[in-house]
Amino acid sequence: MSRPLAVVVLAAGKGTRTKVSLPKVLLPICGRTLLATVLDEVGELGPARTVVVLHHQKDRVEATLADRPGLTIVDQGEPRGTGHAVQVAMQALEGFDGDVLICYGDMPLLSAGTYAELRDAAAGHAASILTAFPDDVAGLGRILRDEDFQLRGIREDRDCSEEERAIDEINVGVYCYDAARLRPALAALSDDNVQGELYLTDTVAHLLEAGESVESVVCEDPTEALGVNSLVQLAEARAVLQTRIHEQHLAAGVLIEDPATTTIDHGVTIGADTVVLPNTVIRTGVTIGSGCEVGPFAHLRDGAVLEDGAAVGNFVEVKKSTLGPGAKAKHLAYLGDAEIGAKANIGAGTITANYDGKNKHRTVVGEGAFVGSGTVLVAPVHVGAGARTGAGAIVTRNAEIGAGETWVGVPARRLGVPVPGDAAGGDES
Ligand code: UD1
Ligand code: MG
Repeated sequence: MSRPLAVVVLAAGKGTRTKVSLPKVLLPICGRTLLATVLDEVGELGPARTVVVLHHQKDRVEATLADRPGLTIVDQGEPRGTGHAVQVAMQALEGFDGDVLICYGDMPLLSAGTYAELRDAAAGHAASILTAFPDDVAGLGRILRDEDFQLRGIREDRDCSEEERAIDEINVGVYCYDAARLRPALAALSDDNVQGELYLTDTVAHLLEAGESVESVVCEDPTEALGVNSLVQLAEARAVLQTRIHEQHLAAGVLIEDPATTTIDHGVTIGADTVVLPNTVIRTGVTIGSGCEVGPFAHLRDGAVLEDGAAVGNFVEVKKSTLGPGAKAKHLAYLGDAEIGAKANIGAGTITANYDGKNKHRTVVGEGAFVGSGTVLVAPVHVGAGARTGAGAIVTRNAEIGAGETWVGVPARRLGVPVPGDAAGGDES
């Protein structure tokens, strides 16, 4: 498609119904904010321009977008309706010629495919609008059609007659306009309605009355159109998104034994033939190879990497750490800022003490090493290839355990090296 695309994301609303201090579009869903989720989906259409309309807690929202270059952020000022929001966005898009796709920052379930379908439908028309037939239409704009099912306009719930309120086709709130025909339609908006707002929806009737054509696309899966206005709706949306993520991994050969108790965020890579056991939490930024075993009750955080055949069992937390091929940490352990070599065995109760209260330090465990139960590795620390630690060893800061050595005790010392003043200590025989 040669016409350029601009995306406008509306996110200036207050979102008071969530009852939380966080701006609504910053609520988390499967490892991203609502807004980031929307931006990622529409981003798949390759827009030339993306404008985000903000106002309430603008600075806080904007701060979360710092790592997305090329966004245009505009401040709507006191929000006076969706039509006003788009007027402000179009000022930032002055001179832009092409398609303008308008969507909401609080609708995380709309897929790139649906946005693309809507955009394709706009070709040759002044605009296209997305409609749906959800079970509950309360509060939503209704789609007005004549007896030939021809689109006539959109009526806001509060402006509906009794008869119009019974219409079961609703306006999702996502549109694709030809920029050149959107501009005059926006200029013609008035706030002569129950809410005293500038309704973007009024542009549809305006375009039709001016003899332009507006296409409509029915959203086949009405759950895609679920907007998040409360924490109850956030939980509903999260469940839908989580199921989608599970299904992608299941389809790719990842055996998730019990999806109902397994959290897997967006942005997790898992190889085929890996088994994920119940009550496991895998956060964004985790990479798992194939043939691994994870869980039950495992917690993998950002930067955890499990190479092929590695295993992480119950009550094991892994953060910013790599487990090499075949490495195992099967029970009760914390591995943070660590590099665990291939086939190393991390005994039950092993802790990397990675944080000294100010800084984080690294732990390196070599290939085939055997870390005994209850070992504390006070980082920075190095355990050589094939080395062993005894049960309950406290390996202190800056220790260098050589390849094949065995260290035991508190503080841990190399077995076979006499401890001064301790006649019994360190006898290897
Ligand atoms: C709007 C539609 C309605 C549709 C519904 C779907 C209008 C007039 N009505 O309803 O037909 O069924 O969405 O959810 O468009 N926003 C701004 N600035 C504003 C107003 C809103 O950025 O001045 C943003 C909000 O943050 C939100 C989105 O636009 O993300 C929709 O606003 P909201 O008030 O929830 O929608 P309604 O006006 O109720
Ligand atoms: Mg409103």
